[in-house]
Amino acid sequence: MPNKATGAQAGQLLTPLPPEMRRVLGHFCTGVAVITAHDGQRPLGFTCQSVTSVSLDPPYISFCPAITSSSWPLIRQVGTVCVNILSEQQDPLCAQFAVRGSDKFAGVIWLPGANGAPALEGVLASIEADVEFEHAAGDHTIVVARVTGLKAHEKRGPLLFYRGGYGGFDGGRHA
Ligand SMILES: Cc1cc2nc3c(=O)[nH]c(=O)nc-3n(C[C@H](O)[C@H](O)[C@H](O)COP(=O)(O)O)c2cc1C
Repeated sequence: MPNKATGAQAGQLLTPLPPEMRRVLGHFCTGVAVITAHDGQRPLGFTCQSVTSVSLDPPYISFCPAITSSSWPLIRQVGTVCVNILSEQQDPLCAQFAVRGSDKFAGVIWLPGANGAPALEGVLASIEADVEFEHAAGDHTIVVARVTGLKAHEKRGPLLFYRGGYGGFDGGRHA
């Protein structure tokens, strides 16, 4: 809305083409997670930054797999996941779980969680959840999952993703 006193308008907006969407939305700093499941034969997982806390009661989170993901259809079939929120030293894991078709778990230390999904060693937090519903949303889908158990390692710092790069959280206050 123009400023009433001056009639001035904000600067011109960019057209939301994919490169502009990626670049501008990259200013929204997020953590990074690896979403895992186990199909009884092998561990599955992919790097995911689109994790959000949705509802406290009932306890829901969401995340958005790309429709091109080859892991997500397999994980969806399992239906129980662990959202492994990475700690600041885990940028190699972030990169490893983002490479399609590779052995994503090579050299990775993990244990089965209470729901069977791989809980990765050294993470900032682990959230186990059951997939409850999914909405189509363009080139991604929005998955809503009910949290069944969770824990945090308070002494570790987060791995942050900002404008295509990674870093730790340097400063600020937290409870
Ligand atoms: C920092 C980072 C964040 C990512 N976030 C997402 C995401 O939110 N959703 C998604 O589908 N892919 C995301 N990716 C890409 C997937 O990890 C990658 O496409 C996937 O691992 C491909 O393997 P797949 O075919 O086995 O799923 C992200 C990658 C990186 C490096």
